[in-house]
Amino acid sequence: MTVGLITVTNCLITVYIFLRLKERTVHCQPPKMIGIIMIVYQSILLVFDFVNLVFRAILLTLQAAWRIVVPPPKKSVVGEIVLITGAGHGIGRELSLQLARLGAKVVCLDIDEANNQKTVADICREGGAAYGYKCDVTSRDNVRTVSNEIRENVGEITILVNNAGIMPCKPFIKHTPEDIEKIFKVNVFAHFWMLKEWLPTFMAMGRGHVVAMSSLAGLVATSNVVPYCASKYAVRGLMDGLVEEMRYGGRNPNIKFTCVHPFVVDTGLAKKPRIRFPSVTPVLTPETAAEAIISAIQLEKSEVLIPFQAALIHFIVRFLPREVQKAFLDFMDTGVDEHDS
Ligand SMILES: NC(=O)c1ccc[n+]([C@@H]2O[C@H](COP(=O)([O-])OP(=O)(O)OC[C@H]3O[C@@H](n4cnc5c(N)ncnc54)[C@H](O)[C@@H]3O)[C@@H](O)[C@H]2O)c1
Repeated sequence: MTVGLITVTNCLITVYIFLRLKERTVHCQPPKMIGIIMIVYQSILLVFDFVNLVFRAILLTLQAAWRIVVPPPKKSVVGEIVLITGAGHGIGRELSLQLARLGAKVVCLDIDEANNQKTVADICREGGAAYGYKCDVTSRDNVRTVSNEIRENVGEITILVNNAGIMPCKPFIKHTPEDIEKIFKVNVFAHFWMLKEWLPTFMAMGRGHVVAMSSLAGLVATSNVVPYCASKYAVRGLMDGLVEEMRYGGRNPNIKFTCVHPFVVDTGLAKKPRIRFPSVTPVLTPETAAEAIISAIQLEKSEVLIPFQAALIHFIVRFLPREVQKAFLDFMDTGVDEHDS
């Protein structure tokens, strides 16, 4: 695509130079010839580029379709050092337990020290390897200090799971500026601070995997969680941007990115979920959500919507006109109701 654009630009510049030369050297043959040769050359390049693009698009589409039918083998996480934020509760805790069972060394971070230590103790009791660190991921200093301790005591991590998140549920006008700042500090800025610490390590090692918890609310916004939705859209933007930057010029082929968009998970985060068709889009258990996330990590998927039905509905609805989308959302009547804490 980029090569195509550059070629088109080159072509236009060449035409411009040719026309200027033509203006100035009406009676002079050699510059005119050079101009014509360059235009022909650039045009041939452009045609080749375009044909190449069409073939690549067809091949990659077929490859993607084939991968749905026959998924590639899952990568092993044995020996990987996985850092998980918000490991003391909910999805983070379940990810820690399941990844440890698969043979990964798990580094658990949470602001809630007691819960975090419980996750670590449970993993160790099962014979897994886990290390616990109290960390407020909204604090750059705390993230830096804890990351240095991890480097010293455990080693360089190879998988980063930015999971910690909060979700106050109330109408937008009831959110105080402090609420909004806190949501962005935990749900968005913490991702930046962790990435600032560990992405350079991944780049130096030439490998690594970044996993970020967005939400279905990061794809389809809903009421009572406006700042939350905005924060989860931001996570998606952060991840998409990083994917583009890291792959530019084929520079970091072995650094993988997975952005996760779960529907409601039964962790207590969404205290009053409103679901009209629970058989179509059921509330997930943290166990099921963690299984699906780990599978996406092992398959190195760049984006995963959980459950699969949510992915299917989203895929169909997003191509519909905006007013039809709204009608569909009204019909589904799915979201979260306001609650106090
Ligand atoms: N539960 C859902 O329905 C659902 C749906 C979609 C996306 N998600 C996302 O999944 C992630 C995990 O959600 P969950 O349901 O497991 O939440 P949870 O409340 O069960 O667990 C979140 C954990 O993050 C920790 N945490 C909060 N602030 C922190 C901070 N400043 N520093 C360090 N740790 C902090 C908490 O102590 C807690 O242990 C969140 O990012 C959430 O937005 C959840």
